[in-house]
Amino acid sequence: MLDKQAAANSDAYFTTLFEQKIKSGTLCIGVLGLGYVGLPLAQAFCRAGIKVVGFDVSGDKVDFLAGRKSYIKHISDESIATMVDSGLFTATTGMDQLSEPDAILICVPTPLDEHRGPDMSYVVSSTEMIGTRLRKGQLIVLESTTYPGTTNELMLPTLEKLSGLQAGREFALAYSPEREDPGNPKFETSTIPKVLGADSTDELDAAYAIYSQIVPQVVKVSDLRTAEAVKLTENIFRAVNIALVNELKVVFSAMGIDVWEVIDAAATKPFGFMPFYPGPGLGGHCIPVDPFYLSWKAREYGLTTRFIELSGEINANMPGLVITRLTEELSLRVGKAMRGARILLVGLAYKKNVDDMRESPSLELLELLETRGAHVDFYDPYIPQVPQTRDHPEYAGRKSIEWSDDILGSYDAALIATDHDNVDYRRLLDLLPLVVDTRNACGHLAAQYRDTLVKT
Ligand SMILES: NC(=O)c1ccc[n+]([C@@H]2O[C@H](COP(=O)([O-])OP(=O)(O)OC[C@H]3O[C@@H](n4cnc5c(N)ncnc54)[C@H](O)[C@@H]3O)[C@@H](O)[C@H]2O)c1
Repeated sequence: MLDKQAAANSDAYFTTLFEQKIKSGTLCIGVLGLGYVGLPLAQAFCRAGIKVVGFDVSGDKVDFLAGRKSYIKHISDESIATMVDSGLFTATTGMDQLSEPDAILICVPTPLDEHRGPDMSYVVSSTEMIGTRLRKGQLIVLESTTYPGTTNELMLPTLEKLSGLQAGREFALAYSPEREDPGNPKFETSTIPKVLGADSTDELDAAYAIYSQIVPQVVKVSDLRTAEAVKLTENIFRAVNIALVNELKVVFSAMGIDVWEVIDAAATKPFGFMPFYPGPGLGGHCIPVDPFYLSWKAREYGLTTRFIELSGEINANMPGLVITRLTEELSLRVGKAMRGARILLVGLAYKKNVDDMRESPSLELLELLETRGAHVDFYDPYIPQVPQTRDHPEYAGRKSIEWSDDILGSYDAALIATDHDNVDYRRLLDLLPLVVDTRNACGHLAAQYRDTLVKT
């Protein structure tokens, strides 16, 4: 595909244009959507000395940035201040400025709709906002996770129609999935290789020129759809493997075998095994969502995605299994029924050390416990108050408890749903009669607290 298109576009118009802009230091990048993905991406370009205009529909976020403040826990205020003070970064809600940057990188949400199909509304509205302002020579890159065909089938026709310009000739189009792992100190945007696809060599090389300013390795693939498929493959791989260890956990637990010990020992094999860990259910913006983008698209080809459906089913059953175990252990070890019991849920975030609770299983655990008549409070050092969520608006505004001996001692059991590093698990085990741990957060204390601790 590349060679054929390259021949049709052999003047390398975009590549030459972008290489010149980089060389002359005049390159300007637009980042549309300044969330968990877009903000670190904007930072990476600024750190490379490249001018960035950040666009977001949220006036609050733009105000935060103008005030040199961060709204994401693992991105510091100082790093935002550095970016703003460098004079290289501005943020705006003014979409008319979209015609200014040479390249626009789109980092908007791609959630599921109420039928568990792709909700493309954010990508569509971004495409429309860009399309009406698109000018010759601009490069548009979609970074949001999506099904194969989105850039070509959904974005390209709209951009061409609204701008009157031709893709691949007058404006360039590429897809480069984001691999951000928020809260992971080992990796940041600028140290993770980036996959890149476009439907012509010229568009691919132009996008390559800009991304190689910020990442050590840009992996070119043959077209847009391949690049879109790469991202889904990565996340389906995770979802399926997490479902596998969740299933193993249930089986091994019935046999009295500690699944975490099994996984850690298996992980000493230097080839052919990669550790994944069980939990109380899938969370986060990506893993519970992205696989279903492929399931949806596969139906267009008359195909079903059985691995994805099965993993979804196993992972979706986890919160219920956790609550059943907690109910049993509460009765056995504390002599209490769930109805009327005081339960402390430890951790609302979907994973450790972040303040993000999108798709977190914790609110489902909370709901299951309350439905069974328990009195439930929560503690999360990163989430002082439950934000507004789509699935559980009724919990918005609930506050984390204060971490004190008196308060902790008033609960019949704690359920650890997130293994934040900055929680004193020993104190929890000392003060409560039962701690049910779904993350192996207390694994190192297991021998000392046999009567109190249950890993599940
Ligand atoms: N968060 C992650 O760890 C992660 C990792 C890899 C990939 N992704 C993917 O990256 C994409 C973005 O995810 P995120 O976590 O950054 O989302 P986010 O919700 O944190 O940020 C999205 C931002 O886009 C803004 N926005 C929405 N519509 C807009 C529009 N039309 N124009 C301008 N701004 C708009 C929102 O106000 C928000 O600030 C998604 O497709 C996601 O699947 C996320």
